[in-house]
This record gives sequence, structure tokens and C-alpha cells, in this order.
Amino acid sequence: MGEGTDSFPAVLFVCLGNICRSPMAEGAFRHAAAKAGLAARVDSVGTASYHIGEAPDPRAIRIANEHGVDIGSLIGRQIHRDDFYTSTHIFALDKANLQGIKAHAPRDGTAQVSLLNDAVEGLEGRAIDDPYYGDEEDFRRVWSEIDSAVKVLVERFLAEGRAARFIVSGR
Ligand code: 4NP
Repeated sequence: MGEGTDSFPAVLFVCLGNICRSPMAEGAFRHAAAKAGLAARVDSVGTASYHIGEAPDPRAIRIANEHGVDIGSLIGRQIHRDDFYTSTHIFALDKANLQGIKAHAPRDGTAQVSLLNDAVEGLEGRAIDDPYYGDEEDFRRVWSEIDSAVKVLVERFLAEGRAARFIVSGR
């Protein structure tokens, strides 16, 4: 994974509505990054416009809260072409989201676009499914899948940061 021009990763999580999975991913990543001392920017968006301006789903807020993460003040927005220049990494929660992202992508966007679980050994290509029509248990399972994946991301960014510092100090 590369680094942004301001030398730390700018991560964007993308689902369909930006009210369930991607706000949970944003909160979980921010929490894990802060705990690990990783400097990063993080945001989330939806590929669809249905929930622009809305707070996350109350079930997502509740599950995040149970894990000490406050996502209650996040506000839904739709992916925009600028996101492909201001983000270093764009992570789709499922494959339909990946297609939706590509539909919005400018030709010369600089962000790396991938499925979130592609970062997790053994889970490559595996979607994190939409819990919107499910129950609390579905939200719990989805939180746990998201939390595991974002912790892997944080570790990878930290490892890359160490490698970069090592190369610079070795000159
Ligand atoms: P999300 O879940 O993509 O994880 O935010 C959904 C939220 C809303 C809808 C679908 C999925 N919807 O159809 O309104």
C-alpha cells in the first residue's frame, strides 16, 4: 500500500447506503488506528444516494457503542469523483459496491480500489454482506467481520510505515 502526499494513508470505506457497514468500518478503523498510534485519515460513503444527510442506522450505532466506538454523529454522503484523488485507499465492503465505485471513478483517479477483505489472508474475494434487512445478530456478525479486517489494515499500514522509516534512515 502506498502513502498519500501528506505521508499518511487516507482511507475511504464504501458500501451501498453509508448507514450500516461503511460507518461501522470508519468507526472501527478510527478506533483501531488511534489505539495503535497510526496517523491516518478515514471517511466513508455510499455508492447510492438514498441516505445522503442521514445518521447511521440505529442498530449500527448501538453495536459500535457496545465496542466503545461512537459513530452517532456521522452523516451519510455519496461517493464523489474527488474521493478518487483525496483518498489513497478505497475499500468496498462487497462486490456490488466495487462495481458501484468503478462506475463513479475518473480515468486518472489515484486511489487504490479494492475489496476490504482482499487485505485479509484467507478471506480474499469475500464480501461483507449488507445487514440492512437483517436483525441485531446480523449487525453483530458484520461488526466482527469489519473489525477484524480493519485491524489487519492498521497493522499493514504500520508495517509499511516502519519499512519506509527504515529505508530513509539507511541512506
Ligand atoms: P449499507 O446498508 O450499504 O451497509 O449502508 C444498506 C442501507 C440501506 C439500504 C441498503 C443497504 N437501502 O436499500 O436503503
